[in-house]
Amino acid sequence: MTNKSFSEQICEVCRIEAKNKKILDVCCGSKMFHFDKKNPNVIFMDIRDFEDILCDGRKLEIHPDIIADFRNIPFNDNTFNLVIFDPPHLLKVGQNSWLCKKYGKLSETWPTDIKKGFDECMRVLKLNGTLIFKWSTREITLKKILDVIKTHPIIFHKNNNTFFLVFFKQAIR
Ligand SMILES: C[S@@+](CC[C@H](N)C(=O)[O-])C[C@H]1O[C@@H](n2cnc3c(N)ncnc32)[C@H](O)[C@@H]1O
Repeated sequence: MTNKSFSEQICEVCRIEAKNKKILDVCCGSKMFHFDKKNPNVIFMDIRDFEDILCDGRKLEIHPDIIADFRNIPFNDNTFNLVIFDPPHLLKVGQNSWLCKKYGKLSETWPTDIKKGFDECMRVLKLNGTLIFKWSTREITLKKILDVIKTHPIIFHKNNNTFFLVFFKQAIR
């Protein structure tokens, strides 16, 4: 018999899972970023486990290692060397569209959600660790996102509508 709450027990399972894993992909989706979709250094996280056939016949497979919400990441502070954050970036997309199936959808509370997700990513990142945050500006500009997270990246790269932002966690002086 254990006196621990259910969420404490989940955290304990996650801590065991995190042992020896250096990288957390918070919104892994179908793992398109990854050369090795079974990389043993990575914990793949997403809010859903999902499969479907898209309108062009492609199979969509979202099978994370853990199902969790980026607004409440179930890992201890200072756990990972690298965190990857690629949240949904569309608000106006239809619920049954292929874009929504593949990339998810923001809700009306997106500023609070993205801020919470960014802060959670930084919390689970080790000191001197790196966060890679991808943002596509099809509907929401980069300026709005930087205003929301109230932090600037150390470097960024832009390709069409897509920004890759790199943040570095340093000690607060
Ligand atoms: C832009 S897609 C990520 C695509 C991914 N990088 C890839 O390479 O396939 C965003 C993902 O975030 C997930 N997501 C949406 N809300 C979330 C939340 N609150 N917590 C964790 N994942 C979430 C969606 O299910 C979706 O798979």
